[in-house]
Amino acid sequence: MRSSLPDFPWDALAPYGDKARSHPAGIIDLSVGTPVDPTPDFIQAALRESANSPSYPVTAGTPELRAAIKKWAIERLGATGEFDVLPVIGSKELVAWLPTIVESKKVLIPEIAYPTYHVGALIAQAQSMPVGIDALTWPAADLAWLNSPSNPTGRVHTVAEIKACIDWSRANNSILISDECYLEFDHTAVSTSVMALTGGDNKNILALHSLSKRSSMAGYRAAFMVGDPALIAKIRELRKHAGMMVALPVQKAMTVALGDDKHVAEQRARYNARRDALRPALQACGFKIEYSNSGLYLWCTRDEDAWTSVDWLAQRGILATPGSFYGEKGKNHIRIALTVTDAQIAEAVMRLEA
Ligand SMILES: Cc1ncc(COP(=O)(O)O)c(C=O)c1O
Repeated sequence: MRSSLPDFPWDALAPYGDKARSHPAGIIDLSVGTPVDPTPDFIQAALRESANSPSYPVTAGTPELRAAIKKWAIERLGATGEFDVLPVIGSKELVAWLPTIVESKKVLIPEIAYPTYHVGALIAQAQSMPVGIDALTWPAADLAWLNSPSNPTGRVHTVAEIKACIDWSRANNSILISDECYLEFDHTAVSTSVMALTGGDNKNILALHSLSKRSSMAGYRAAFMVGDPALIAKIRELRKHAGMMVALPVQKAMTVALGDDKHVAEQRARYNARRDALRPALQACGFKIEYSNSGLYLWCTRDEDAWTSVDWLAQRGILATPGSFYGEKGKNHIRIALTVTDAQIAEAVMRLEA
């Protein structure tokens, strides 16, 4: 199986990282979308208070965490009907293992996408097929990924588009999993959860959420799914056998994080201010910005090979990600992450304007 995995794409970016680091004023790394703003104090306190943790945690989650996820799913996502919840060890883990867990044979993935959807299909030895967002054009398959707002494009799918995906799932009796880990970071478009559009019939439907970005908890590895109770029961059963359980102090931290929206609003405002600062500076350098309405990224092109744009920015000490990491259709784009400090954003703007 290892031999079928692609080379780890970030290794190809390393020489451009070296070039950007050699800038006299240092590198501004807008490539990997790893949060830099501090985890809010009250979340850190909850983690510390549970440091005495001699017993094994429960795979299904503590009753308090389960209740917090359910409440959040109803209030924030608009979930209706019967649904279950399940914490996972960061959402990347679930993305990589879900096709294996559900014994998928054919996985539909967005044509410009977070690479782990494809990797998950490879691990399961399933076929992965890139598709556009119009589900009327989708072939039969047993699993399909949605991602809105999208990494890398920041595109927000419309209600009609998501509903068509739900119809596809029903017509094919196939799993539809919507990766909504950037849903809290709306800017000029409002994202709708798949859970708000099922009319209470959640069969084969899952939504995947993460606290990595929402609550700057990427180092905690804290995520969860919401959706079809029968499907989640099957996933939970396998995870129990495999020891895939979220650490108890992390579960406690997740519970308090989900109970608070104020820190999320502050973080949203931070990312949106960074986006608003970078956007005109990039445009003035000839980059067109596509989609990028919400989420954590600016998706840009100068109608040239992505590596040419990456090199041009690296000469200015700025590291971006080539769109080719996300699929053939991204080969003339770059992805700019908003995950650096405000001071670094201001410095990046200065360098672009210079
Ligand atoms: C679309 C998407 N899904 C899932 C993840 C994984 O996030 P985590 O494992 O931190 O929850 C990422 C991370 O960047 C992502 O962009």
